[in-house]
Amino acid sequence: MTSVKMISWAEAEQRARELVARMSFDEKMEFIRGNRFSTRPIPQHNLPEIRMRDASMGLRLLKTDVEEGHDLTTAFPSSVALAATWNPERAAATGRAIAEEYRACGVPVLLGPGINIYRFPACGRNYEYMGEDPYLITQMVVPYIKAVQELGIMATIKHFAANNCEKDRKNVNSVVDERTLREIYLPGFEAAIKDADVAAVMTAYNLLNGYYCGENAWLIKDVLRKEWGFEGIVMSDWTSIWNADLSINSGLDLEMPVGETLTPEAVRSLIDSGHSSGAEIDSKVMHCAKAFYRMAILDGEHDRTGFSFGDAEHRQKALETAREGIVLLKNDALLPIAPGAGKIIVIGPNADPTPTSAGGSGHVRPIEPISIYAAMKSIYPDAEHMQELNQAAVAAADAVVVCVGFNHETEAEAKDRTFELPEGQDELIENCAAANANTIVMIVAGGGIAMPWAERAKAILHLFYPGANGCQAAAEIVAGIVNPSGKLPISIERRIEDNSAFGRFVAAADAPVKKAGVRDYKDIEYSEGIFVGYRHLDAKKIEPLFAFGHGLSYTTFELSDLSITPASGDGKQVVVRCRVKNTGEREGAEVVQLYVGDPQASVPRPPKELKGFQKVFLKAGEIKDVELTLGRRAFSFWDPATKDWKAEPGTFDILLGVSSRDIRLQGKYELQ
Ligand code: BGC
Repeated sequence: MTSVKMISWAEAEQRARELVARMSFDEKMEFIRGNRFSTRPIPQHNLPEIRMRDASMGLRLLKTDVEEGHDLTTAFPSSVALAATWNPERAAATGRAIAEEYRACGVPVLLGPGINIYRFPACGRNYEYMGEDPYLITQMVVPYIKAVQELGIMATIKHFAANNCEKDRKNVNSVVDERTLREIYLPGFEAAIKDADVAAVMTAYNLLNGYYCGENAWLIKDVLRKEWGFEGIVMSDWTSIWNADLSINSGLDLEMPVGETLTPEAVRSLIDSGHSSGAEIDSKVMHCAKAFYRMAILDGEHDRTGFSFGDAEHRQKALETAREGIVLLKNDALLPIAPGAGKIIVIGPNADPTPTSAGGSGHVRPIEPISIYAAMKSIYPDAEHMQELNQAAVAAADAVVVCVGFNHETEAEAKDRTFELPEGQDELIENCAAANANTIVMIVAGGGIAMPWAERAKAILHLFYPGANGCQAAAEIVAGIVNPSGKLPISIERRIEDNSAFGRFVAAADAPVKKAGVRDYKDIEYSEGIFVGYRHLDAKKIEPLFAFGHGLSYTTFELSDLSITPASGDGKQVVVRCRVKNTGEREGAEVVQLYVGDPQASVPRPPKELKGFQKVFLKAGEIKDVELTLGRRAFSFWDPATKDWKAEPGTFDILLGVSSRDIRLQGKYELQ
């Protein structure tokens, strides 16, 4: 596909400098304030209106686009499902396909991807993010961004940073110590900048350690720009900066959606009163122009020729991702059920229609969505959609698929959901399981849920939000047409109390009200620190219901021949190798997961952390060798004393497994 000829940051800077020199104060102010979902055009300087649209799981068109004749687009599986593929190639393929839809619709800026950490299952936007582990996020987000930007579409990594709950998101202060930020909440952003050269960053709604993220000079100027060398645009989330003085000096460039805080009047008065030299405005214009020039957005390179949206090719890509991203959590020798065999009842609130995505700015209006029932029917012609539970009929069936979970109203941006399924759903599963032992549960949700019925369900599949045709993949998995290979990018706790942010996920009702200018806020203490997800469950020896990295297959794999060899050069520290064999009778894929542990550290560290993985596709009986390289950073923690990464010499655990709780090979490495 036609890539766009990007220019270097240096060349882009030169052109931006010339532009700034030609612009008046009022023109500069126009350029750094949005116009809803675009920039403001400045025709006298050949600056067009630059359109921006959301894409958590595909291009979200606006009503105005609909008037232009563009309506529905391809809904891809949600980002958490993409992360569940543990396959960076799928991330690249998804990024490319979504970017092609942007090209086809003439939209040069993609407001995504989102990579906030899955800290607690209730967050209404978990579906838009990539799970709980910073390493997995870096490996998935970098190829996604590269693929998007290769087509000249600017990616906007969001929401920077520590926006982990939705309710009251504009009135909460995430209180996070620096080590926790560096090790858990920031690595995805760091990789997006250093490894993927992302051109834009969107700040988060919340305050971070006392400052709104868009007003936070430590976050933007010190970390993002000075330390990581970010050259592009820092834009605010939609109405998220409030204080002109802080915002002008924070390093933020573009105020969205309309620029209510950095108004020309407010900025003039800051300059007149000596709070700003005015140079900050030039630097904001520079950053915006530089990024647009670099992506060739201002050079008319973005023609739509050869691009289409909502086409069969993209739909196929979405299907392929769903096939790899659906996680088979449990299978008590029930699946697969041969195509066409027997009578299967499909029941539950998500049976037909099945929600393709959750709600908010990540919601995509999909072309031709397929429900679980329709997909099952296409493979099992005798399948029946039961609206109201009839236990006798369920008992008489060969199997029952109970379709539960949330939808775009019960799980959405700007609110948080329950860990428990909505009312009546647990009961429906229990009643079906009581009537028919062959009960299969299909979950549609952005993350973990309570499963009090887990023992009684014979098979459980997590679909996350599957996109337009992901239910087809779920039915193919039931039938064994597709061998499942998705792995959880999250931990699923047995009880919500087992999550380390329990009781601190949102601000406490009796937390003192604080003030940031005219705004009230409350603190959320991230006092669990780095012990998020499996890091906490491992440290506290709490058995999860389903562990991070878990996911079943219809075949079996054997890991053997572990070797750990010191390496040098190119930032390499050690090379870990093993052999994987498909010991079953079907073709399948396994994700070899490499965890590193530092049992004798001078600071508290998790028993193990993911530092490498590879998805291996093997025919029955086939053997492949896997090689994973660790750099020094894989052994390091963030040392608050020296404000740097520190790897302490000593003996490290090297663990290879197929989930965080299924370690197959263990070795040691002596770090000098
Ligand atoms: C969301 C952003 C989104 C923006 C524009 C905000 O409410 O937090 O993620 O990009 O709206 O739709």
